[in-house]
Amino acid sequence: KITPVLLAGGSGTRLWPASRKAFPKQFAPLIGPESLFQASARRLSGPGYAAPVVMTNADFRFIVAEQLDQIGIKHDAIVIEPEGRNTAPAILAAALRVAETDPQALVLVAPSDHVIPDSAAFAAAVEEGAKAARQGRIVTFGITPTRPETGYGYLQVEGQGEGALPLRRFIEKPQAPQAEAMLAEGGYLWNAGIFLFAAQTMIDAFSAHAPDYLEPVQAAVDGAINDLGFLRLARGPWKGLRDESIDYAVLEKADNLSVVAYSGHWSDLGGWDAVWRELQDKSPAPRGAVTDAHSTAIDCDNVLLRSDSADMQVVGIGLKDTMVVATSDAVLVAPMDRAQDVKHAVAALKGQG
Ligand code: GDD
Ligand code: MG
Repeated sequence: KITPVLLAGGSGTRLWPASRKAFPKQFAPLIGPESLFQASARRLSGPGYAAPVVMTNADFRFIVAEQLDQIGIKHDAIVIEPEGRNTAPAILAAALRVAETDPQALVLVAPSDHVIPDSAAFAAAVEEGAKAARQGRIVTFGITPTRPETGYGYLQVEGQGEGALPLRRFIEKPQAPQAEAMLAEGGYLWNAGIFLFAAQTMIDAFSAHAPDYLEPVQAAVDGAINDLGFLRLARGPWKGLRDESIDYAVLEKADNLSVVAYSGHWSDLGGWDAVWRELQDKSPAPRGAVTDAHSTAIDCDNVLLRSDSADMQVVGIGLKDTMVVATSDAVLVAPMDRAQDVKHAVAALKGQG
């Protein structure tokens, strides 16, 4: 069985005001009745999977527990990182925990804020990946790129064929000119941010490429205490850890990467424009207008109007390429092509977000 490790520690500021410091996007029902976190947990449940390990922080622990409970999924552990140190130590801590029972057990690390609607296609990709993971490979999942996005990692595939292919190179978040060159050259896929490996394979990769993490992360796991059913990692050794993502710390350097191409729909919902694109097919409103139960678009083209509050009706008239997102205490209004700038607004509001 594969042990799912759900990463749920990020804060998702580009989806303000629906995503808040105390309640980030992965826990909000952004594109359906379930939160992205719940959809991710569900996707990685069932016969082939062990109970999930959730890596999160003290602020989100009760939301995580409650949301798993709501969908009837029993967790193996909800692990509390004393402070956010990015994905490298979070993933190593999870691998060390799984390895305690079985070093060869397969681990599937997944973000909890992605949209992957085709569960059957995804399961087939995981099955392909599992074969390679059992042979000591770190398996990534590759998405066909459609634009020179600089917010993703790029995977350069070696050769052609079916199933898991060896990776020649992993390039995390390239500069725009390099992203454009890779897109023009072809043979590159986007890194979906989902990784499959045997627990020991990841531990070995840290030994080789980021050995400074091993001792303190092991100490934090060994010193973990059970706190009301949550597994709280020891703060002392965790505090001094470098803040680095797994992509930079290990994957760019590793030489045992493989990739399974995934052709089903995938989105990381990186902004309101992505939410708008995601909901367009599902919205009955004409001309690209996306509305919800508390909003109305009159004579609008390509707009996103939403209100998360029954006390706040949003009405747009004659708008074009615009998004309006209201909650009970905040309203965002912006042109659709400024979706990425929302994170600056949150920074400007400091603490209030
Ligand atoms: N538990 C925990 N602790 N989770 C974390 C932490 C942390 O300190 N930091 C981030 N996460 C979670 C986020 O909530 C998210 O679910 C996931 O880890 C990935 O982190 P992001 O910060 O969203 O990474 P990214 O989007 O910039 O880049 C990654 O994902 C891209 C695809 O969406 C990389 O893997 C890229 O290569 C990839 O293309
Ligand atoms: Mg992300």
